[in-house]
Amino acid sequence: MTIVVIGHPKGGVGKSTVATSYARRAMDEALSVVLVDTDSTSSSANFGAIRAHLGTTPHVQVVQIIDAPTRSIIDLNEKYDVVVVDIGARDYSKVTELARIADLWVAPTQLGQNDMAATVLLYEAFQHANHSHIRGRIPIGILFNKVPGPWNSTEEQDAREFLNQECPGIHLFNASLKERKAWRDAGRIGSGISEMTQSTAAKARDEFEAFFQESMALMQSAAKKAIKK
Ligand SMILES: Nc1ncnc2c1ncn2[C@@H]1O[C@H](COP(=O)(O)OP(=O)(O)OP(=O)(O)O)[C@@H](O)[C@H]1O
Ligand SMILES: [Mg+2]
Repeated sequence: MTIVVIGHPKGGVGKSTVATSYARRAMDEALSVVLVDTDSTSSSANFGAIRAHLGTTPHVQVVQIIDAPTRSIIDLNEKYDVVVVDIGARDYSKVTELARIADLWVAPTQLGQNDMAATVLLYEAFQHANHSHIRGRIPIGILFNKVPGPWNSTEEQDAREFLNQECPGIHLFNASLKERKAWRDAGRIGSGISEMTQSTAAKARDEFEAFFQESMALMQSAAKKAIKK
């Protein structure tokens, strides 16, 4: 029913981290969810394997489809409420194909110069490819990740201003994810961040929840607009 793609050309920005937590969190909405790992480095597949090894419940359905996954993703979309797709870095052919069918494209982005430059390039590529999307616009949202912790850091605000200037009309999620150890802890035990009940994970959990709610609202409003047309 809904395809959520997590993709950005830069490595290590948090695509698999967001994809795994997103899939797990979506299950709490009483939705049937499948997580599709299209990356040969297998981060999302490993998430499923660690859970299976530890016997963590609930079971998260993870499939790995590395070669030409688009057709299979369309088929999975018939069977599941939510299909979450994790793409590897620099996998440009998948970016182009999946941009056509995504109901939401989340691009996690770090704040460094090279990450920002890659985000601008992704935006420009999507500007040229918008016509290939069924709604005439690829529904991309930028999610700032690994944002520096200090309260007085202006880096995120600077990054927002930079992208608003360089990428007119781009959607920047209001929610952002700070650099927090809880994310690495969750990764080690194959947990979604929403499952991390320790008080030390509370901030990471809250930040992710704000993003998750925002993403759901965004898809609902896009669906309403599509019905009106
Ligand atoms: N907000 C965060 N705070 C702290 N660590 C984070 C955060 N987000 C991700 N990480 C860590 O950063 C590392 C890279 O994350 P991840 O593997 O999700 O990136 P990726 O974009 O999927 O990388 P690749 O391009 O190789 O697929 C992981 O060790 C993960 O635990
Ligand atoms: Mg990854």
